[in-house]
Amino acid sequence: MPVTTCIFDAYGTLFDVAAAARVAAAEPGREALAACWPKLAEDWRIKQLSYSWLRAVAGQYCDFWVVTQDALDWALEAQGLAGDAALRTRLLALYRELAAYAEVPAMLRALQDRGLTCAILSNGSPGMLADAVASAGIGELLDSCLSVDSVGIFKPARVVYDLVGQRYGCAPGEVLFVSSNGWDAAAAADYGFVTAWVNRRGEPIDRLPGRPAHILTDLSDLPNLEIF
Ligand code: LAC
Repeated sequence: MPVTTCIFDAYGTLFDVAAAARVAAAEPGREALAACWPKLAEDWRIKQLSYSWLRAVAGQYCDFWVVTQDALDWALEAQGLAGDAALRTRLLALYRELAAYAEVPAMLRALQDRGLTCAILSNGSPGMLADAVASAGIGELLDSCLSVDSVGIFKPARVVYDLVGQRYGCAPGEVLFVSSNGWDAAAAADYGFVTAWVNRRGEPIDRLPGRPAHILTDLSDLPNLEIF
């Protein structure tokens, strides 16, 4: 069954989630953040994901933007930075305009040239995704942004992956699903998508049901996979 449709996770896969803390830390007057930004970025991301999973299990869905702010508040307090309201505002503004990884535009263009449909499937709310896609300048390379918001539960709930077939009318085996999140790649593989895990940080594979068929270190070689 040929792959016709390439579906990308957004945060961490197309967009560099550490960029917000890294950029803010380099700004004048941000010495306290400069001393701790990698840990703050890590905590922010881990809490954001944990809160999404816990809310999914507990049936307490809310907009991913709320989850993102809650996670940032935890991370700021953990670093003794909870009182810096201007920093909070700046980090959230930067999160709305995250840079795409450098290889993303050329990779999407190569897939588009092969006649493949490319889209996002993300926990992000429609507004967050629209902002990120616009600031990264990749809107014309994507057919759509599918958001969990339409089903009211976060990944890896299977109803989220159902959105792809509902939108594009394709079978799971016709979909290449791409994620840098090991747990997302595992769930997508278990769902039946042809799956590529972008293991940017050289992490061990997640011990979960489902194994990605392809493991890449970044997105540059994605168009060269022998599945197209
Ligand atoms: C997303 C998160 C999981 O974009 O990275 O869905």
